Amino acid sequence: MPTLAATIVEVRAAVAAAVQDARGRGVAEPRVALVPTMGALHDGHLALVARAQDVADVVVVSVFVNPLQFSETEDLDRYPRDLDADLDTLAGVDREGRASIVFAPTASEMYPDGKTQTKISAGDVGNRFEGRSRAGHFDGVLVVVDKLLNIVQPHAVLFGQKDAQQVFVVSRMVRDLNIPVTVEVVETVREDDGLALSSRNRFLDERERLAARVLSRTLEAAESAAVSGIDAVIAAAQSAGMGEPLVQLEYFSVVNPATFRPVDDNYRGRAIVLVAARVGATRLIDNESIYLG
Ligand code: PAF
Repeated sequence: MPTLAATIVEVRAAVAAAVQDARGRGVAEPRVALVPTMGALHDGHLALVARAQDVADVVVVSVFVNPLQFSETEDLDRYPRDLDADLDTLAGVDREGRASIVFAPTASEMYPDGKTQTKISAGDVGNRFEGRSRAGHFDGVLVVVDKLLNIVQPHAVLFGQKDAQQVFVVSRMVRDLNIPVTVEVVETVREDDGLALSSRNRFLDERERLAARVLSRTLEAAESAAVSGIDAVIAAAQSAGMGEPLVQLEYFSVVNPATFRPVDDNYRGRAIVLVAARVGATRLIDNESIYLG
């Protein structure tokens, strides 16, 4: 069973004890990895934990639904929470010789004054794509990630490629602020039919679940057309994405991974195709890396 820490003092003590233990077992310089999550753990999170276990001797999984990253129109209370189930899930993937610690603080432990007076801005990228419909979302993500990094002080922090824009803004914060941590990015885990795993998938009813396949189909079509250039990608994605009455496209874009800005017509090289859609009442996102010829 993982060690459960609810406070900052407890998690720091648990990490220090686990590092000491690892030294006792002959690991000269034990490494610590952090997997930040909002709980409702699924196989996508477990892929992060597995990678963390590969790169570190002590793995800390934080489970914290961060109020700062929810906009006023989003329902913070509707976000799925089940710490006992998350602990069971993590107990099932504990690896011998790898200490696992779950840090599950309350909102008042993380934000004793309600919210931080100090802000971190994700810059103009933070207002595009996901940030457009979720004002302040990425600023809130950066504050909590920075706090978690300061609390746990890991060597590595792991994120899923499914949240490509989050990966971009966090990696830039780490670089901009010289935070001494390696950002490890783990590939998106998908259902057999292509749907990217997400804590929100549980809100889809049967018909919506089937309709949601259109997101990965759109990305596959874009990827197949990539050798022929951006116009072909857009045309292929449009025809793959048509005709699903339950799906309302929010955005589709092809961005330069170095800037997270849409590529222009002459761009050649690696790019990321982004898609976001509402399937019934549930908002889903997905992305795929392509090589534009
Ligand atoms: O990706 C998430 O679940 C959250 O944005 C994160 C990184 C745990 C910060 O709250």
